[in-house]
Amino acid sequence: MLHETIRSRRLRTSDSLRRMVRETRISPESLIWPIFVAEGEDIYREIPSLPGQYHYSPDQLHRMVERARAHGVSRVMLFGLPKEKDEIGSGAWAEDGIVQQGIRKIKALAPEMYVITDVCMCEYTSHGHCGILCGQYVDNDQTIARLAQIAVSHAKAGADMVAPSDMMDGRVAAIREALDKAGFVNVPIMSYAAKYASTFYGPFRDAAGSAPAFGDRRSYQMDPHNGREAMRECALDAQEGADILMIKPALAYLDLVYQCRQRFDLPVAAYAVSGEYAMVKAAAKAGLIDEYGVMCESAVSIFRAGADILITYYACELADAIRKGDIG
Ligand code: PBG
Repeated sequence: MLHETIRSRRLRTSDSLRRMVRETRISPESLIWPIFVAEGEDIYREIPSLPGQYHYSPDQLHRMVERARAHGVSRVMLFGLPKEKDEIGSGAWAEDGIVQQGIRKIKALAPEMYVITDVCMCEYTSHGHCGILCGQYVDNDQTIARLAQIAVSHAKAGADMVAPSDMMDGRVAAIREALDKAGFVNVPIMSYAAKYASTFYGPFRDAAGSAPAFGDRRSYQMDPHNGREAMRECALDAQEGADILMIKPALAYLDLVYQCRQRFDLPVAAYAVSGEYAMVKAAAKAGLIDEYGVMCESAVSIFRAGADILITYYACELADAIRKGDIG
């Protein structure tokens, strides 16, 4: 029996001391801001499902760059909204496709900006699925050939890193091989290694116009019941040459962020997806929670679980919170 009280509170007695003993350290350099680039001109439109986030046509991307710079955010991940879609998503690998235009524009405006691209087909296919259909089924091997082509076209346009989000088998190896062949041996792959078939993507699909026209994504994205399978997916992607492993969504899947950190030596990214952001926005608007506090605490939790990198629509606001010393 203890006769003396162990005083854990002793290390909580002052702000200075609390900051000194923080276990989790966060830097604005670990944040990636997702950006939606829309084909057309003069488009600078707030996205209804993601308040505070915008569609930018290439000629309006300076607004994004200004905002990012004002907050010290210099890593972005691009998603594209093409004007036209077709059955095979050919806009995704077009030389003057919307993401390719966006990359070139950002690099011209802000060479310091590190540009990552989402490699997928769902925004470009008329049916909204993440690949080439064979009947109602997404054909794996035809799709990965196209994904490799998309990744190379992004690299040619100047992308610094590619991030395949489709969940086809063997796509990391196919993309690595194609990038290497095209001379892009130093373009890293951040794979959406464990990406779940999640309801939390709802606001994104409104924002990107990428909801499937029929069925759902459960024949390629993962079943939320499965955790061991996520580690298998991570191991496969690591073997195939992924440079960074991503877990998505983030908050509801922190067990996997933690396990991924424990098991693999690669950097671990977590994607706090559209639904996570929209819920906080909606609850704050309804006066139910303190947006700033919840944003900060959620981000800290994701890093505490083991993420090295956080992809978040709150990148700008979190960078400010870190600099102010409220977190980090
Ligand atoms: C494309 C893709 C999606 C997201 C990122 N890449 C949507 C989906 O898989 O349906 C979701 C991002 C978010 O919800 O913020 N496949």
